[in-house]
Amino acid sequence: MLTGRRLLLAVTGGVAAYKSAFLARRLVEGGAEVKVMLTESALEFVGPQTYAAITGSQPHVALFGEDMVSPHTELARWCELAVVAPATAATLGKLSAGISDNLVVSTLLATKAPVLIAPAMHTEMWEHPATRRNMETLRGYGYIVVGPETGALAGGDEGIGRMSEPEAILEAIETALTPSGPSLRVLVTAGGTREPVDPVRYLGNRSSGKMGHAVADEAARRGHMVTLVTTSALPTHPAVKVVAVETAEEMLQAVEGTPADVAVMAAAVADFRPTTSGAEKIPRSQGLESIPLSPTPDILASVVARQPRPVVVGFAAETGDVERAVEKAKRKDVDLLVYNDVTEPGSGFGTDTNRVVVIDAGGGTEQWPLMTKSEVAAKLLDRALGMRVSDRP
Ligand SMILES: Cc1cc2nc3c(=O)[nH]c(=O)nc-3n(C[C@H](O)[C@H](O)[C@H](O)COP(=O)(O)O)c2cc1C
Repeated sequence: MLTGRRLLLAVTGGVAAYKSAFLARRLVEGGAEVKVMLTESALEFVGPQTYAAITGSQPHVALFGEDMVSPHTELARWCELAVVAPATAATLGKLSAGISDNLVVSTLLATKAPVLIAPAMHTEMWEHPATRRNMETLRGYGYIVVGPETGALAGGDEGIGRMSEPEAILEAIETALTPSGPSLRVLVTAGGTREPVDPVRYLGNRSSGKMGHAVADEAARRGHMVTLVTTSALPTHPAVKVVAVETAEEMLQAVEGTPADVAVMAAAVADFRPTTSGAEKIPRSQGLESIPLSPTPDILASVVARQPRPVVVGFAAETGDVERAVEKAKRKDVDLLVYNDVTEPGSGFGTDTNRVVVIDAGGGTEQWPLMTKSEVAAKLLDRALGMRVSDRP
C-alpha cells in the first residue's frame, strides 16, 4: 500500500514531535518515500538529523536559503499526501487563515494533495473557541483529521489533546491513499417537525437541525450522494439535495421517496400531531380548551422495514439515563443509536457541540467526549459508512 508513495511529513512545535519520528520510521518501513518539513519551533523539540537518518534525506526547514529555488511549490507538487503530525494550535490557526509565513504552511497552501492533520496540544488550547473555529474551517476545506485522543499530556496533565499514536495515523494515511469506495446513497433527516394546530400555530420542538445538517455536509464532502430531508433552513454543502418539509407526514413521504444505502435519522419527529387543523385561524375569542392529538407515523420504523435494508442510524434526544436509549436501540432495531442528554451543558438542541453516547445493535455503548457537531458527524460517518448490514450481531 505504501510502497513507492510520496509522502510529505510536516512536523510542528509540540512535545509530540518525538512521536512523529516513529511515524516517519513506520512510513519508510512500509516502503514510502518520505520527505520531512520542520517548523522553527519543531527544531526546539527534535533534531533534523533524526529525520535525515530515518528517511535518507535532509529535512526542509526554511522557505529561503534551501538548495531548491522554491521549496514550497516543489514539495507541494511532489507529494501525494501531506501529513501534519503533530499539528500545533499555531499551525492550525495559520493554515485556516491562509497565513503562509513559513515553509510548512506555504507548502500546505500550495499543494493540491490531500492533507491529513493530527492535532496535539493541551486540553485548554484544544477547547479554546479559536481552535474549535479553525478546526471547523479546516474540515470544511476537506482536510482529514486524526485525533486528538484523551490521555496523559505533557507535564503530568490528563485530558483531550494527546496526539494519536503513530499506528493510528498510519492507518488513516493508508485509508487516505486507498482509492475511495463507491459513492453511497446517504439519506439524512434533520430538524424538528412542526404539526399545525391551525394555519398560524403549530406544535413543535427545540431541534435546530444542526446535527443532521453537519452529517449531510460531511457525507457530501466525502463524495457521497446525499439527500437531506429537513425542516431547517440552515445552509448546506452545494452537493446536498435538500427536500424541505414541515410535518412528520411530509417527512415520511419524502423519506419513502428516497432510496438509501445508509440512513441517518437525526430529525426530532413529533410523536403526536393535532388530530384536526382547520383552514381558518382559531380566534382567541373562541377559546381552545384542549387539542386532541393523534400519533404521527414512525418514520424510523419505515426505514428499518425496507428491503433491502439500509444501514440505519437513529438519534435519541432524552433527558433520562442511557439505559432507556439502550432499550430503544434494541426495540427500534437500528444499527447505531446516538444518544444525547439534552439537559447537559453544551449538548443537544441549538448548540454547536454535542456529547453523545453511541449504542450499537448489540446494546454496547461508547461515550464520546464533548465535540463539535461536525466532529460528531465525521466520527459517526466513519462508523456508519464502514458498516454493512451483514455486520449485525
Ligand atoms: C514545552 C513546550 C511544549 C509545547 N507543546 C505544544 C503542543 O503540544 N501543542 C501546541 O499547539 N503548542 C505547543 N507549544 C507552543 C508552540 O511551540 C508554539 O505555539 C509555536 O509557536 C508553534 O509554532 P509552529 O506551529 O510553527 O511549530 C509548546 C511550547 C513549549 C515551550
